Amino acid sequence: MHFKTNPKKPSQTALRVIPVMGEENLSTMKEKLVQSPLSKLLFSGEKDSSYSLESEGRLVLLLGLGKEPEYKTVETAFRRILSKNQKLAESGLSLDFPATFTPEQTEAGLIGLILGTYSIGFYKKEKPKSFAKLKVEVHSALKNIDELVERAEKIAAAKMAAFELVDLPPNKITPEYLADWAKDLGKKNKVNVKVFDTKKAKSEGLEAFLAVGRGSAREPKFIILEYRHPKAKFHLGLVGKGVTFDTGGLNVKTQGMHEMKSDMGGAAAVLATTKLVADLGLPIHLTTIVPAVENAVDKDAYLPSEVIGSHAGLSIEVIDTDAEGRLILADGLSYLVKNYQPDQLINLATLTGSSIGTFGYQCAALFTNDGGLSHGLQQAGEGVGERSWPLPIWEEYAREMDSEIADIKNYHGKPFAGAITAAKFLQAFTHGHAAWAHLDIAGVSFMDGEFAKTKTGTAYGVGLLLKYMEGYIGKTEV
Ligand code: BES
Ligand code: ZN
Ligand code: ZN
Repeated sequence: MHFKTNPKKPSQTALRVIPVMGEENLSTMKEKLVQSPLSKLLFSGEKDSSYSLESEGRLVLLLGLGKEPEYKTVETAFRRILSKNQKLAESGLSLDFPATFTPEQTEAGLIGLILGTYSIGFYKKEKPKSFAKLKVEVHSALKNIDELVERAEKIAAAKMAAFELVDLPPNKITPEYLADWAKDLGKKNKVNVKVFDTKKAKSEGLEAFLAVGRGSAREPKFIILEYRHPKAKFHLGLVGKGVTFDTGGLNVKTQGMHEMKSDMGGAAAVLATTKLVADLGLPIHLTTIVPAVENAVDKDAYLPSEVIGSHAGLSIEVIDTDAEGRLILADGLSYLVKNYQPDQLINLATLTGSSIGTFGYQCAALFTNDGGLSHGLQQAGEGVGERSWPLPIWEEYAREMDSEIADIKNYHGKPFAGAITAAKFLQAFTHGHAAWAHLDIAGVSFMDGEFAKTKTGTAYGVGLLLKYMEGYIGKTEV
C-alpha cells in the first residue's frame, strides 16, 4: 500500500471513501450525495452503516460512523473497506477526511484501513490478495497529516505482527520461533535481545519456568529485550505470558484445547509493543520479558502435587498443572525486578477462564497496587477501545494460596475468585514492587469478530500500552 497525502492532481478513478458522522455531518457535507428524504432512509450516517453509489462516473463509499465516533468505531469501519469491498478498491482509494475529524480519529481510520489487508489464510493453496501496490490518497486538512500516516503505518504493522503471532498455529509459533522473532527485531532495530536456553535458565534459577517446559519436546526460551532511548527518564518493565500451546499438562484440558494456541497473547502484545516503541523511537527505557514455553504432556511433565522452586526463592506446590501461566510469569516478574529495577512493571497474560466468567469479552481484568497505573491504564485503554476494569487484590485473597508443604501453592482449588487469586500469586513474586499491574487478557486477546469465521488475535494491549507510555512520558516532560 502506498500513501499520498493531499495530492495536487487527485485521481479521477479511485474509490472515494467519505466518513459520515450521523445526520449532522450528512447535511453539511459539501458533496450532496444523499439528499432526498428517500435516500436518507437508505443511509443516514449511523454507526456501522455504509452506502455505496456512483457519482459523476466515480464510485463513492460512504462510511457511517454515528455522532462523535469512538476510536474503535472508526478503526473497525475503515477495516471493513479492504476486508469487505476489495473489488471496489481495485483502481485505488481516496480517503476524504472531513475537517471535523480529529487527529485521533484520523489515526484510527488509517490504522483500520491497513488492518483490512490482514487475512488468516496463511496455509491456503490460493494466496490471500496482496495490497502491496494499492495507491491510497489521503485528503485531510490536518497540518501533521504526513506524520500521522507514517505513525499509523507503524502502529498497524505492530498490530498485524501481534495478530499473526496469535493466529499462526502452535507447530509454527514455538518458543524458539518467539526467540527468533525477538532476535530478528534486535537486528533491525535498536533493541538489545538476550535469549536463555534451558542450561542458562537453570543457572539463573528460573525453576518455575523450567518446570512448566519440562514435558515438551520444544525447548523453553526465556526472552529479554531492552530498548533504551538516550533521553529516557522513565523505565517501564513488561512481561508477557508466552505459552505457545497450553494442553493443561497432566491436568489435561477437556474443553477448548484447540483455542490454546492463543495462550501467548500476552507475549504477542508485549513483543509487538516493543517493536512499535523502537519503530517510533519513543523517549523511554523499556525492558520486556517473555518466558516462552509449551505446556505439554509426556514422561517428564511436571506433576500435580510436585513442589518446585522459583527465581524469587519461594517454593511452590503445584496443585494444578493447568495453572502454568502464573508459574512462568512468577519467574519473569522476579527476574525483571531483581535484574532491571524498572520504575513500573506491567504484565499481560491470558491467565484465567475466571476473568472471562467475570467480564465476558468486554474488557481485561486489571489488578494493580498503584493508583496512577490503575487510572492511567484504564484511561489509555478507553481512548483506543481496549478496555480494562479493576478487581481488588486484598490481602485476604492471598491467604487462599497458602500451602502446607511449601511457601505458596499455584491454585486454591475452589470455584471462586480464580482471577483474583491468580493475581495474588503473581504479586508474591514482584519483591514488593510499588508500581505493578497485571492485565488478565484471557477474554480479549483472541475473539470472535466480524473479520473471520473463527476466533482470531485482536492485538489487545498494543494500542493501550502505546497510549499509556505516551501519556506518561508527556506528563513527566512538563
Ligand atoms: N490459558 C488458560 C486460561 C485461559 C482460559 C485463557 C480460556 C484463554 C481462554 C490458563 O492457563 C488456565 O488453564 N487457567 C485455568 C486455571 C485453573 C486450573 C486454576 C483456568 O482458568 O481454568
Ligand atoms: Zn493452563
Ligand atoms: Zn495457559
